[in-house]
Amino acid sequence: MPPSLVLSFKENSSAIAQSPDSVVVQSPLVQGNIPPDTLNLNSLSPGLLAAVRMLAAEGGTEEELSDLVLQSDGVAELPKFYYYLQQFISLGLICHTIICEGLPLATRVPFSPSDRFKFRKAAIDQKYVLSRFAYCRKEQGQLVLESPLSHAQIILADGRGAVAIAELAKPQTCGELSSAIPGISQETIQLFLSLLLSSEMLGEVKADGKIQEEENETLVQWEFHDLLFHSRSRKGRHSNPMGKTFRFKDKIEQPPMVKSQMSDDIIDLYQPDIETLKAEDYPFTRILEERQSIRRYNDEPITDKQLGEFLYRSARNKRIVSKDYGDCTHRPYANSGGRYELELYVIVNTCDNLPSGIYHYRPDTHQLCRLIGRNSQVEELLENAGTATGELYMPQVLIAFAARFQRAAWVYESIAYANILKNVGSLQQTMYLVATAMNLAPCAIGAGNSDLFAAAVGTDYYAETSVGEFILGSKSTE
Ligand SMILES: Cc1cc2nc3c(=O)[nH]c(=O)nc-3n(C[C@H](O)[C@H](O)[C@H](O)COP(=O)(O)O)c2cc1C
Repeated sequence: MPPSLVLSFKENSSAIAQSPDSVVVQSPLVQGNIPPDTLNLNSLSPGLLAAVRMLAAEGGTEEELSDLVLQSDGVAELPKFYYYLQQFISLGLICHTIICEGLPLATRVPFSPSDRFKFRKAAIDQKYVLSRFAYCRKEQGQLVLESPLSHAQIILADGRGAVAIAELAKPQTCGELSSAIPGISQETIQLFLSLLLSSEMLGEVKADGKIQEEENETLVQWEFHDLLFHSRSRKGRHSNPMGKTFRFKDKIEQPPMVKSQMSDDIIDLYQPDIETLKAEDYPFTRILEERQSIRRYNDEPITDKQLGEFLYRSARNKRIVSKDYGDCTHRPYANSGGRYELELYVIVNTCDNLPSGIYHYRPDTHQLCRLIGRNSQVEELLENAGTATGELYMPQVLIAFAARFQRAAWVYESIAYANILKNVGSLQQTMYLVATAMNLAPCAIGAGNSDLFAAAVGTDYYAETSVGEFILGSKSTE
């Protein structure tokens, strides 16, 4: 039996009869304040009504659907059928399923209305290879193929589809693939490759052995993980719930606003008088204009008093705000949703009156909790930060920002990690400005070792580890 391509409405979309000849077609509901797309179809002919019902039920091939219209209404209604079909496709409502020997082999499911499905037929003798952006993963008990280049996902319902994907890691023609996979015809493979080709998952291998994405200077500069993160944490290329959805409310307790005290070895930090600073500080524009990254220090190290003032001015809790879903705080830097998931760990190399080691900063009491003294992990963290600046020596003080991830993920969906990284930027800039106002030497650091940090401090990598770094020291007078 030859394979067929069956069209149907996407799962959870609806086609609700309003009267005997009118139907409202609606896209699936998504959490997160996104209204569904709706299409009102009025004065439908009996054939068109039957075609819409077929799409909403078991689905049908384009020929079966158009035949319903042709037989019931005659040829005059056919353009209307194709017009409506195009509207459904433009709203991202139509799934395409390859049926092979009566069973589904693969289904293409559009993610959103940004999908512009256009069927591209694969050529029999042409070699094709999988895009380096395509990947398989498990979703709701099914294997799915996805790519950040695509506006759709392919459900691989049959293991032969998964075998074909594995084979496509190297260039293949339809004939080569069908002879490599038992029980699948060349015609079925051609349809399968057409579906992948129509979903930006596959590339046509040119005479030089390359596919188009390898010659595109914009795409070659994207790493797989960056493009996937970008496409999934912004709207447009997926239909996942986004924003404050509180998906774990009443299921999992949220982490507390402030982390509990990590040790009994407490150091009270110096608190500056904010009112005096407001009157006597450098003017704002001077601070802004003079801010710069400084990676070399004075021989005299930074003092505990300066560190206390620096942390107070950039990262203390200013006040608590009670919201219906829990307490949030205000601090000198902006942070998405007031969740303040970033914990500061002060890793001291040299600081007057503060022995070398790792300390946790308590933003509510403005204290340091001493965690560990200088050891090989502390040295490695400091050395890594020093190397990142291109200098040969360690910073005087490294401040590691560790995220309590679940504090953000409890509230946000799709954007929790992206927001955490943005909050790192917000804190880094605040620290730069405070350090400039205090005549200290500040510098943000772009990369750190989160495994090493978690091992040094003893946190669970998945619950809390470093996501950003900042180094600080005394400013050279030269
Ligand atoms: C997110 C971020 C990461 C950075 N990473 C590093 C780094 O790893 N090493 C370094 O020496 N400077 C780093 N910097 C500092 C930049 O190199 C610096 O801001 C830039 O060159 C502009 O110079 P300025 O800060 O003196 O104006 C980083 C800055 C930011 C904002």
